[in-house]
Amino acid sequence: MRHGGGPSPAPPAALDPGVVDRLQDNLLSWYAAHRRELPWRATTDPWAILVSEIMLQQTQVSRVLPKYSAFLDRFPTAARLAAAPLPDVLAVWLGLGYNNRAVRLKRCAEAATDGLPSDLEGLRALPGVGPYTARAVLIFAANADLAAVDANVRRVLTHELDLPHDLSPTALQSTAEAVLPHGRSRDWHNALMDYGSLVLTSQATGIVPLTRQSPFAGSHRQRRARLLRLLLEHGPQSWTGAAAALELSLRDCRKVAESLAADGLVVLHDDRVTLRS
Ligand code: ADE
Repeated sequence: MRHGGGPSPAPPAALDPGVVDRLQDNLLSWYAAHRRELPWRATTDPWAILVSEIMLQQTQVSRVLPKYSAFLDRFPTAARLAAAPLPDVLAVWLGLGYNNRAVRLKRCAEAATDGLPSDLEGLRALPGVGPYTARAVLIFAANADLAAVDANVRRVLTHELDLPHDLSPTALQSTAEAVLPHGRSRDWHNALMDYGSLVLTSQATGIVPLTRQSPFAGSHRQRRARLLRLLLEHGPQSWTGAAAALELSLRDCRKVAESLAADGLVVLHDDRVTLRS
């Protein structure tokens, strides 16, 4: 295995077909024996799958599970989410963290009230839907012959194919496409994700995510979450009231509010801060 050194932007040399066959057989038979039953695997509704993918982006499966059914009970279609006031959406989302994802999901819903697009370009054009998420929706909803690379998939392919740990995203995407078993995309990606989170963890492999959260980002996020919760539970706040409740200086409190405002979560007034409706 290669570690360290400079970046390795080039794709690996063509993969040996024997290696590809073995990887496919091993992973798919492991999956047949060990697969997790997860609610987003019991549906082919693209909306339900998009919701799961947005929730799973930055939150672990065990924390997503209870929120997922509550959210879909309340917002079973894009049209229902689009029609809901943002504070109602945030109230259901709260606890998952990264609350700006709720705003993004609502913006997606507003752009797709007649149903989600069924092609890659259409999905990619939705606000906040990146290349991974657009592919994941088509893979899990329609078993599309596409390859999607998230942190789990990257870790499994890197480990199993002995790839450089710093392989570029483009090279990794080509590799993922080269090993995709056609016609089995849904099972294959579920297998990669389960194997990546149950067996080949970051700790087991030493393959760490490409981006890590800084401690500052952690405390800033926590402040954002606290201000949001204060507004949801107690309504509009004067600047002095908000700063006191968060035990922050007025200046720091304003900074937190400004960052929430930039994500479309709150509105800043001269004398107070309110949730965006
Ligand atoms: N992480 C992202 N998407 C996932 C999925 N569909 N199943 C499990 N973990 C995931």
